[in-house]
Amino acid sequence: MSAAPLKQTVATKQGFDTKSYLRSTSEVVERSLDRWIPTVKTKPRRIHDAMRYSLFAGGKRIRPALCLAAAEACGGEWTPALPAACAVECIHTYSLIHDDLPAMDNDDFRRGKPTNHKVFGEGIAVLAGDALLTQSFELIAKVKPTSRYGVNKQVLELARASGSLQLIAGQVVDMLSEGKAIPIKELQYIHERKTSALFCCSVRLGGMSVNCTPTQLKALTEFGYNVGLAYQVIDDILDVTQTSEQLGKTAGKDQHAQKATYPSILGLNQSRRISKQLTEKAFLALKPFRKKAAALEALAGFLLNRDC
Ligand code: IPE
Ligand code: IPE
Ligand code: MG
Ligand code: MG
Ligand code: MG
Repeated sequence: MSAAPLKQTVATKQGFDTKSYLRSTSEVVERSLDRWIPTVKTKPRRIHDAMRYSLFAGGKRIRPALCLAAAEACGGEWTPALPAACAVECIHTYSLIHDDLPAMDNDDFRRGKPTNHKVFGEGIAVLAGDALLTQSFELIAKVKPTSRYGVNKQVLELARASGSLQLIAGQVVDMLSEGKAIPIKELQYIHERKTSALFCCSVRLGGMSVNCTPTQLKALTEFGYNVGLAYQVIDDILDVTQTSEQLGKTAGKDQHAQKATYPSILGLNQSRRISKQLTEKAFLALKPFRKKAAALEALAGFLLNRDC
């Protein structure tokens, strides 16, 4: 790890500067990713170029921020949570590279830039996704075991959230549901898995890396589930209400692809109400952490009101 001290923002009575908190967490996570991912000069250059292209394209770094904030809520430092924070960002970036492929959502823009396959071709994009997925397990293997959570428990946590019962399950049912009228329960199943599972995993790993108590882990699970589900409901809303320039990805794609989304089934107003209710549930889950949850609370509020 870098010897430079980490800027760990603390809540003030005046409130919480979420943007500056996100700037700090992103900076620390990007520094770690840069030192842990092979350089573009490493052979074969093309794959490392492609991995880094998407990884450093300007994502919001929400999952790693939540991971670090969860460690903080449990009374820990950011440093022990950094391998997990980087691992969840690698999983997320891989899932986006594959999500954008012509065989899936067929998108041309991501994070304000042409998608990975548009720049490197489909073959390399598939492999860049594969490599980032594999890289994330190399990263999580770097975690320090704590008395409650050995490395095996933390690896298992990441494997379960990204496997065929969670993230992949969500992506599969999302694809199979295109053009179909599905009940809201089924859409909830999709969103819980394709997005909420990795949010939940991000905060749980943040807690585990600083040896959180079982009560804290339970609270983080409840928080992560609700924030994650709200995040995907809001992603669906923004696809309808924002421009491509604002989002850094093509807006209006869901309707075009006849995707099942919260607005398409319930309308915008009801979808907004649901995202608020889920965020309220996330706030409630933070009670056991008291003041130490300032960052998690601020992040959940910020994500509810985001415009991209
Ligand atoms: C996009 O995730 C895909 C979803 C699961 C909603 P983000 O909105 O977090 O994308 P980046 O990382 O900022 O590009
Ligand atoms: C993506 O959901 C979820 C995963 C990549 C796991 P979306 O398909 O809605 O994400 P965007 O809108 O392309 O970012
Ligand atoms: Mg998709
Ligand atoms: Mg997509
Ligand atoms: Mg979307």
